[in-house]
Formats: sequence, structure tokens, C-alpha cells
Amino acid sequence: MVKEATLNGVQWVVPDPKRENWYWPSEALKVHAWASDAKIYAQAAADPIAFWSQQADQLTWSKQWTKAYEDEPFAYRWFVGGKLNLSYNSLDRHVAAGKGGKTALIWEPEPVDEPSRIFTYQELLAEVSRFANALKALGVRKGDRVGIYLPMIPEAVIAMQAVVRIGAVHTVVFSAFSPESLRDRLLDCGAKVLITADGYYRRGKKIPLKQQADQALTGTSVEKVVVVRRAGNEIPMQKGRDVWYHESVAGQSTHFPPEEMDAEDLSFILYTSGTTGKPKGVMHTTGGYAVQVYATSKLDFNLHEDDIHFCTADVGWITGHSYINYGPLMNGVATLVYEGTPDAPDFGRMWQIIAKHKVTVYYTAPTAIRMHVKWGEEWPAKHDLSSLRVLGTVGEPINEEAWHWYFEHIGGKRCPIIDTWWQTETGATCVQALPGIGPFIPTVAGRPFPGIRAKIVDAGGVPVKTGDGGYLVMEPPFPPALLRGLYGDSEKFRATYFGEFGPRLYFTKDGARMDEMGNIRITGRVDDVMNVAGHRLATAEVEDALAQHPLVTEVAVVSKPDEVKGEVPVAFVLLKKGVHPSEDLKKDLIKTVDQHIGPTARPAAIYFTEDVPKTRSGKIMRRILKALVRNEPIGDLTTLRNPECVEDLQKAVGYKA
Ligand code: WTA
Repeated sequence: MVKEATLNGVQWVVPDPKRENWYWPSEALKVHAWASDAKIYAQAAADPIAFWSQQADQLTWSKQWTKAYEDEPFAYRWFVGGKLNLSYNSLDRHVAAGKGGKTALIWEPEPVDEPSRIFTYQELLAEVSRFANALKALGVRKGDRVGIYLPMIPEAVIAMQAVVRIGAVHTVVFSAFSPESLRDRLLDCGAKVLITADGYYRRGKKIPLKQQADQALTGTSVEKVVVVRRAGNEIPMQKGRDVWYHESVAGQSTHFPPEEMDAEDLSFILYTSGTTGKPKGVMHTTGGYAVQVYATSKLDFNLHEDDIHFCTADVGWITGHSYINYGPLMNGVATLVYEGTPDAPDFGRMWQIIAKHKVTVYYTAPTAIRMHVKWGEEWPAKHDLSSLRVLGTVGEPINEEAWHWYFEHIGGKRCPIIDTWWQTETGATCVQALPGIGPFIPTVAGRPFPGIRAKIVDAGGVPVKTGDGGYLVMEPPFPPALLRGLYGDSEKFRATYFGEFGPRLYFTKDGARMDEMGNIRITGRVDDVMNVAGHRLATAEVEDALAQHPLVTEVAVVSKPDEVKGEVPVAFVLLKKGVHPSEDLKKDLIKTVDQHIGPTARPAAIYFTEDVPKTRSGKIMRRILKALVRNEPIGDLTTLRNPECVEDLQKAVGYKA
């Protein structure tokens, strides 16, 4: 174990002498790294099941599995017969190893003058156990679904841990989602209990979360609501249904025996956007999920016990599940949770937090980096960032400019950038460069993680030539954390992921290319899913929301590149007869989107139009609208029923191509 104090300011990377913009780990990093020999790839490829079993051996199982991997069409299973608990592996086992006094969670509130809250592993275990007892007293049992609608406060992690400790299933819903989005998810999974908060801080303002939750609850199966007091705002409490978190845990025992879970038991459902208007409930298991999240956290970020890991995602997204909560905690490191936004009280907030807590690993999204680029390098320059060792990115392809800015102004040209490709469905990272192995190349994610078999194929499922573009797919043995299904819809599960290429090839819906070394460059989604400021969103969801406005007859939404957010939705709206377009109506439409989804889904532009291009069978040709807003060649119009409308649309959007 290298002492943390000796690590500050170390040169972790060196430039490639021959290839511009390529970097490799320095000797210092190779010595410090868990994996520093590229042979790990060949070894794991020779026997992926053995590789994953070795990773699984590093966790604590109450019963050893009898078969590491089993694969039938659409039904792949890992660590069959094995038993374990995610919360035990996150907390108890470190306490049992004598590390109960180590910092587990550091919470940084948004108001700068409010003190941080820090939990040791022993303290976090005690609090999780108390809350597990409270939830049990409220009737939560193994297999029950529990909704979590919380801001970025320690109780978000505590709640998730308590739920899986009982063997119940959590469904975390992003706190900026609208009541309607929350209701859809609670209804779909049949949640019995909801955990929420009175409110939280957003740029100094108190957001009334409980009132939003109340609106969502009518008509759902939720029987009890637990409310964390955070903002201290006045809220209504419904007698018999609502209880305060602090009252529910008062007097509860700090001991709660973790439920013994089967490796294939469901651990959580997380809703994500597909190509339709209705989000899908991605199902994750216990064993395979734990193993891949544990192993990737350790190897991607080269986690050692004294690391302070700061992932800026929200717990409402898969990144927050895996790399704020389970991954860092299973590795016994300190995880940092920040409540607020990066511009509160000023543009230097993230860098101030890194300096204050001596953060060693910083994991964020390219969209956030582009925002910092805009704000300027004078902000990070004010803070001591020499504690940083590894930088990570996730969520979308990172452009060259953002990569170099991150590398220079945050990493001080000392730290590797680990560009991690993965999805809600994969549960954990799948493609990346490993810190001790490299290379680190701007815009290139890296190689498939050891034990993962990914390739690039054409539309017929045939591998393309090295360097050619194609579709990114994965082959069996499928990654241990890969989703096992979509809640309540096995048909959709098969059709969505195995519809194109059959049960032996999982289709990621991403385009990519691969070089001779196996480095993968992701080119983006090939379906109608957008990445808006790191948030996954289907164009159909925005269409559905807008179509619910009483004055709208038809609507088409496409994505358009944006300098900061990566992509933004643009809407073409057809109004009812006699309705006149106006700025007020635009505002009203934006409000509709806020109501049905949340502010993340707001269109960047709304065009009122008489018509949208359609095929003879009446299908909207979004391809043409996309070309129009991107100033790209429009292509063939002969298959259209109404080619004449394209000219009007060109004028409306200011088309120049
Ligand atoms: C995209 C987020 C390029 C990709 C963890 C994927 C990326 C979708 C990267 C999943 C990356 C994620 N480079 N693209 N490093 N990481 N993506 O489910 O299109 O919110 O299919 O999961 O984000 O988004 P999701």
C-alpha cells in the first residue's frame, strides 16, 4: 500500500514519443496499479469465465456458486447457486476486517457555510441497519419494490443500501423528474413504499420535493412514504401514510442481519429511455452486478483504500448507482456525495471540493467538462488539485477540446483520463483504458474490459474490417452485470437487445470503430435515443409530452448537436386549426414538457409548422428533419408524400447546406 501523502502531484502519465496525443502510464503509475500488464487481456480472453470467477472470489459469498456461467437463449446466468448480499459486501465485510473506522462517505452540502457530514464504515453500517429495521417495521419484505426519490444527500445511499440489505428491490427516480414521471415508474413496478425528502437546495433555492412526490402518489400502490428532513421547508404530512425518516429510525437497532440473496435475485430496477415514449425498467441482479461493479471500480480507477472517489453523477442514474454507491463502497474507499450544482456559489465549486477533501479520483461527464471550458480555466487555477490521480468520463463521446482541457487544467497533464463506455443496461463499465496499461487517447474509449467480448459488425451481424465503422455488439459469455430483462416485458427485452442479431449477440445500439490494438471509438447512438447533457432521453418521450398539450395535433422531435450539452431536442409542432403560433404558446409547451418529464427534456427550439415530411404510409421522416436542423444534405425526397413542405421547413430553420 502506497501512502497517500506520497502520491500528491505525481506524474502518472507520459506522452507517446511517436504518436501525437497518445499517453501511457508512467513507471510510477504502473507500480501503483492493480493491472499494469496488457497480458491481462489475452489471459481473460482465453477463459473469461475463469477471469470473472477470480474477481468474484474477492467478494464475500455466504454460499459458493456451483456453476460460474450458464447460457440459454435470452437467459444467461452468472454464479449460479451462489448467495451473497450487496450491502454486506459494501459495509459489513470492511468492518469485519477491522476497517470500521475508515471514512466511507463524505457529504458536501450545497450551502458552502454548512458543514460536511462524514460517515465511517462502522457509522454507515449502523445507520443503514437502523433504516433497514425501520423499513421492515413499515412492512417492506424481500422482493418488495421501494421507490427512492431523493436529492443528493447521504440518505440516498443509506436508503439504497437498506433496501438491498432487506432483499427488497429499489427503483431510484431522479429528483429533477416530474411527478408524472415518478408516478409512471411507481405504477409500473408496483412500489409499496416511497422514500423522499421535504426538499433540497438548488443554487440557493429550496426545491419542494415532497409536494412533487405527493402529486405522483395518487392511484399508485404506495402504502407508506418516508420523508427525510433536509431543507426544513413546510410540508404536508398525510396521517397514516407519511412518516419522518428520523422518527422511523429512532430507537431502531443498529443491527440488521443482511438477507441472503441468490446471485440471480433482482437487486434493483432502473428506468431508462428506449426509443418509445415509455421508459423501460432495466432489471439488475445481485451477484453478477456486484462482481462487475466491484472489479471495474477497482481496475478502471485503480482504487486503493485511501482513495477519495468523487463521481458527480446523480444517484438517479446508473452511474450514481454503480460508481457513487456500490462500486466505491465494495472497494472500501471513501465516496464523496455532493448535493448541489457546479456553479454554486461560483464556477469553482467542484475544484474547491476536490481541494478541500483531497479527492484522488474524479469521474464526470463530457457535458460538464464543456461547461467548465466555457467558464474558463481561471476557476480550477484557484484551487490545489494535486491530490488527483485518475480522471474519468462517462455518458457520451468526449470531443478533443474538452479532453485536452480536462487533461491540462484539471489533471495538470499528470493524470490519465479513463473514458468509460457503458449503459444502464450493462450496469457497469465495459470499454475503457486501464490506468496502469493505457493508452489514453482523446475521443477513443479504449479496449473492452478483460473478460468482455465486444466486436463491431455490419447490419448482417458480420464483423467489419479493422478501422471500419459498424455496430457495437457483445458476445457470450455476456458481461456479468448485463441486464437480465425489462420489468414485466420479456418480449420487449428480446426484441430490443437481441432482435437484430439473435440471442448470441447483444446489440448496444451504438455505432463504433476499432483499431488493430482493439481500441474502440464510439461514434454515437444509432437509434432515436439522445444524450442531453449526459441524460438519456428518447425523442419519442418528448414527442409524447408535447402531444398532450390541448392545442397540438402532431409533433416530431429530433436531436441537434449542442456545444455544451452534446445534443438537444428540437421540436416541430403542428397546431390545431385556427390556433395562432406565439411566444407564449412556446412557453406553455415548455411547461408541458416540464410537467410530463422534467426540465432536462426541454426543446432548445420549437418550430410551428403546417406540415412535416411523411412517407406515403404516413410515417414522419425524422431523418429529413434531422438533416434540416443540422444543415446536412437532405437526400432523396421522392419517397415522400408531401415533398413540398420541405421548402417551408428549410426557411423556418434557416437551412444553409
Ligand atoms: C453513451 C450511461 C461514448 C452511449 C452510463 C450509450 C458513451 C449511452 C459513453 C448509455 C462513452 C456512454 N463514450 N458514448 N464513454 N458512455 N455513452 O444508459 O451512446 O445513460 O449507449 O448510461 O450513453 O447511456 P446511459
